[in-house]
Amino acid sequence: MELDPAALSQPDRYKLLIGGIVPRPIAFVSTVSRDGRLNLAPFSFFCGVGSEPMMLLFCPANKPDGTEKDSLRNARLESEGGVGEFVVNVATEDYAPKVAGAAEPLPYGESEFDLVKLTPAPSLVVRPPRVAESPIAFECVTDRIVRTGPGVPSAGNVVLGRVVHVFVRDDLINDRHHIDPARLNAIGRMSGTTYARTRDRFEMPMGRKALAPEG
Ligand SMILES: Cc1cc2nc3c(=O)[nH]c(=O)nc-3n(C[C@H](O)[C@H](O)[C@H](O)COP(=O)(O)O)c2cc1C
Repeated sequence: MELDPAALSQPDRYKLLIGGIVPRPIAFVSTVSRDGRLNLAPFSFFCGVGSEPMMLLFCPANKPDGTEKDSLRNARLESEGGVGEFVVNVATEDYAPKVAGAAEPLPYGESEFDLVKLTPAPSLVVRPPRVAESPIAFECVTDRIVRTGPGVPSAGNVVLGRVVHVFVRDDLINDRHHIDPARLNAIGRMSGTTYARTRDRFEMPMGRKALAPEG
């Protein structure tokens, strides 16, 4: 089947993205409003960007009325009325229902920390707290935001963050900074309400070596 995005409805384009780009890691993003109210929400349009400088991104889409989601309102630059900071907590199977639960669209200023009963723990460098139950947290300062359709319902926004501090639970990391994937037990999002575990893993080298016959 050949598909022209211009001939599809927005919901159908969305289905192609979330069904075809899988599995997606989940950024569990904690932010704070200018007046100190906490916010927490999952975002699977999320990835690392680079390690020099250390950057990552997540993509909160506009709401159906074209306005910006709370995470974006809080994470946007101070010059745009935000706090300019956010924390990406890694979503794991241990508290998976709370990750999905925090997607509840609460009114601005009401905390999903309270709704899903997760614990805010002070961050070291930024104002938004990290999630105490999360084994890894990336504290970020917003570097820039790319809006692909300002005011347009469902249009995406790219929030680029510079990582200024990393929390890793001690039992997950060795002295060479390798993270133990089994202990991390991260989850990913597939399409709709389907999720993936990270328990089924396999090894292979890169490049030509990957093509060599075994032995
Ligand atoms: C696992 C999961 C991943 C999600 N990923 C995204 C995403 O990448 N972008 C987005 O705009 N919404 C995503 N959502 C929906 C948001 O979490 C939801 O709209 C939430 O209410 C936004 O909260 P906020 O207004 O407090 O920022 C996702 C929901 C779930 C359960």
